[in-house]
Amino acid sequence: MTDLTTAGAPARHRARFHDLTVADVERLTDESVAITFTVPPDLADEYVFEPGQHLTIRAVLGGEEVRQSYSICQSRATATATGTLRVAAARVPEGRMSTWLNDVVAPGDVLEVMTPLGSFTCAAAPDAARHHVAIAAGSGITPVMSLLTSALEEEPRSRATLLFGNRKTSTIMFLEELEDLKNRCPGRFHLVNVLSREAQDVELFSGRLDRERLERIFAALVPVASVDEWYLCGPFGLVTGAEALLQERGVDQHHIHHEIFHVDDGTEPKRKIVVDEAAPPEATVTVNLDGRTTVIPMPSREESILDATLRLRPDAPYSCTNGVCGTCRARLVAGQVRMDRNYSLEPEEVEAGIVLACQSHPVTDEVSLDYDA
Ligand code: FES
Repeated sequence: MTDLTTAGAPARHRARFHDLTVADVERLTDESVAITFTVPPDLADEYVFEPGQHLTIRAVLGGEEVRQSYSICQSRATATATGTLRVAAARVPEGRMSTWLNDVVAPGDVLEVMTPLGSFTCAAAPDAARHHVAIAAGSGITPVMSLLTSALEEEPRSRATLLFGNRKTSTIMFLEELEDLKNRCPGRFHLVNVLSREAQDVELFSGRLDRERLERIFAALVPVASVDEWYLCGPFGLVTGAEALLQERGVDQHHIHHEIFHVDDGTEPKRKIVVDEAAPPEATVTVNLDGRTTVIPMPSREESILDATLRLRPDAPYSCTNGVCGTCRARLVAGQVRMDRNYSLEPEEVEAGIVLACQSHPVTDEVSLDYDA
């Protein structure tokens, strides 16, 4: 191992954990809660976020470290005005973190919370008159709450439409807040609830929010040409299906923003492989992280660069280890890697050399990654 300390501060805020106190826990539905953290003034700069980003929470549960990302669900203006950050957590079957957050965590508890990350964002344009349309299902509403409320608050001439799929009324997260948003922004926010297990007066809104229903909603209510920015968030099938439909309709990929909450693409997430650390390296990876450079020998190219990095740099950021959350993103500055899967990075980010360390394997003998770039 070579470990060289280099001068110079990171070029941007690097992901790091801080202890934050829980200010409030609100039950949203039987199976979801919103958790509000107090952000101390001395950490306010580090927790500045773009609407659509998420926080990773780290906890030791059942004797094992667990990390999970939760999207911020409030507007940027509200977060700044109140000195808080609010995320929502829907209970996931057998999900240790979501069960703990739903059943155990209470005001006054102190949690380890990573600074905000994520590329499911769209830069605000205060003078623009844009139409923002979100297609979301279930807990996929969480980042959309932040995206749409921020857009409506920061762009007074813009409007927003939410096509929101749920099973029934009682499972709709943020139902009251969405109704409030309609009242606060008369004529600028249009909410379409589509329920799969509860009949509604309008047949178009009863059933699954699938491709066929989206096509009918576009034809009746939301002409595709009227939309400037699209936000897709929810299960894999909804997001990929809606994205394919929009591409067929000629929507520019740069205006389709997406985030997948559950990957069920038929592939198994790769398991961590066991390596012989004493074996001669098949490749060498140099990482720059938080202004410090570390050279990491990799006994096997089958191991992910993240797993190899964590042996020597346990401070390397990660959360899902599944190619979804983007927490492990870094810039490839030398060499070549291959990624197993990528459900996080936009095409232009990949073109710019951004990779997901948890999915990357060296192709060349020498690879350099910069987490700070
Ligand atoms: S840790 Fe989530 S994409 Fe790599």
